[in-house]
Amino acid sequence: MATRSFLLLGILALTSSLAFASDPSPLQDFCVAVPNSPVLVNGLVCKDPKLVQADDFFFMGLDKPGNTSNPLGSKVTPVNVVQIPGLNTLGISMARIDFAPYGLNPPHTHPRATEILTVVEGTLYVGFVTSNPDNRLITKILQKGDVFVFPVGLIHFQRNAGHGNAVAIAALSSQNPGVITIANAVFGSNPPISDDVLAKAFQVDKKVVDYLQSVF
Ligand SMILES: *[C@@H]1O[C@H](CO)[C@@H](O)[C@H](O)[C@H]1NC(C)=O
Repeated sequence: MATRSFLLLGILALTSSLAFASDPSPLQDFCVAVPNSPVLVNGLVCKDPKLVQADDFFFMGLDKPGNTSNPLGSKVTPVNVVQIPGLNTLGISMARIDFAPYGLNPPHTHPRATEILTVVEGTLYVGFVTSNPDNRLITKILQKGDVFVFPVGLIHFQRNAGHGNAVAIAALSSQNPGVITIANAVFGSNPPISDDVLAKAFQVDKKVVDYLQSVF
């Protein structure tokens, strides 16, 4: 009997921690976002359900390649609550990622979402790093049709490992996953982080930091 209640407690603890690790559950069928509302809540306030239209749940154009003519050779086309107001409170979103040959989606993290990605064209080298103290790098080469998961919060990347273009479609467990691109956040913050701080943190000369800050 005691064992059983311990088990029950364990399951309860597990389910409640899972609930807190994703967007809050909806309390109604939907809550289509009013993007410019002056009322600030966790998410966005709801449009009157009677005024909701099909277009509130609709986005078009994900068949169109993103423009990869940039130094990284990659382009993310997000489809989250900004593009589809009907995603508000539903805890899900997606993205298309295009890669030129050798293109890179650089190391970044989504503070609010786990990502599941499938390759629809080409070949990708993907990976993520586990948290301290192990910092284990977990990588895989993905071909068309392969699916890979990037756990919430962990730093990850994708690089085109083929000769042609590559395309991936990702789903994310938040209406607003957020993106923290490591290089941009650390070396391109506004205002900049002091080069004393970064030189010591990265154990490099301040000149290296100043150079990186000029790039980002
Ligand atoms: C792609 O982006 C580059 C660089 O910003 C720009 O010069 C080019 O016109 C864009 N191409 C298209 C098709 O939009």
